[in-house]
Amino acid sequence: MAFTQAASLVSPETKLVGIDKWEPTHDTTLEAAMAPDGPEFGDKSRLFYPVQKIGELVAASKEYPNAELRKSSFDEELASFADGSIDLLHIDGGHLYHEVKHDYTTWLPKLSSRGVVLFHDIAVHNYRHSQVDQFWAELKTGGYPFFEFFHSAGLGVLGVGKWDEIPEPMRLLFMAQKEGRETKIRQWFEFLGDRTARLMVYEWAFGSLPKDDLGRIRTSEHLMTPPRDEDVVEQGEGATA
Ligand SMILES: C[S@@+](CC[C@H](N)C(=O)[O-])C[C@H]1O[C@@H](n2cnc3c(N)ncnc32)[C@H](O)[C@@H]1O
Repeated sequence: MAFTQAASLVSPETKLVGIDKWEPTHDTTLEAAMAPDGPEFGDKSRLFYPVQKIGELVAASKEYPNAELRKSSFDEELASFADGSIDLLHIDGGHLYHEVKHDYTTWLPKLSSRGVVLFHDIAVHNYRHSQVDQFWAELKTGGYPFFEFFHSAGLGVLGVGKWDEIPEPMRLLFMAQKEGRETKIRQWFEFLGDRTARLMVYEWAFGSLPKDDLGRIRTSEHLMTPPRDEDVVEQGEGATA
């Protein structure tokens, strides 16, 4: 939904497709999922996507004519996308090393010459069910430009298109990382993400976001205003109380 909402604001003509099997798990208790021999990450993640939530997601997506949700597997859907037809691919399926590698290598030919691939959970380390960090460490040495976010389990951004055709804002991001100027950008997004998460907590606690005009204005200011410089510390600063 985040991609859909963002595209509807800045690029309404963008077509979005979300693919997920949304299969019920064999055991969805938290204790079972966390047990050493518990289900794999893909299954465990179902804990956070109960069936009723999927219904809500489908209903919400219907507000966006360019967004489509497909209940299917990534492999089954491969054939329905032409080579070179995808500008932005978000990989967040199976989190074992061989799964994320498989999803990346099978979908890579589908990326356009402007193509960028996102990998969720690159900052989850030493966790049996999540090995995206291991595959990401390999990708970083592969020659493609990249950017790393570390907040909220981490997001890897990989530019797989032709350098001159990758959109300029993405190129600036990649240059910042290459030249060691990435810290403030990271913290800026972390700051905004944190504020969005606080709004979600507000919604959970009170049932809805403020509906009156003042509340709506406050909410949009809250989301859209970049942090002030004094709210952002350089990496390493602020480590001591
Ligand atoms: C960590 S969740 C992320 C879901 C989604 N990105 C989101 O944020 O709502 C991982 C999802 O990937 C799905 N999944 C795992 N492997 C898949 C595959 N091969 N084909 C389709 N879906 C898959 C699981 O069903 C699970 O819902």
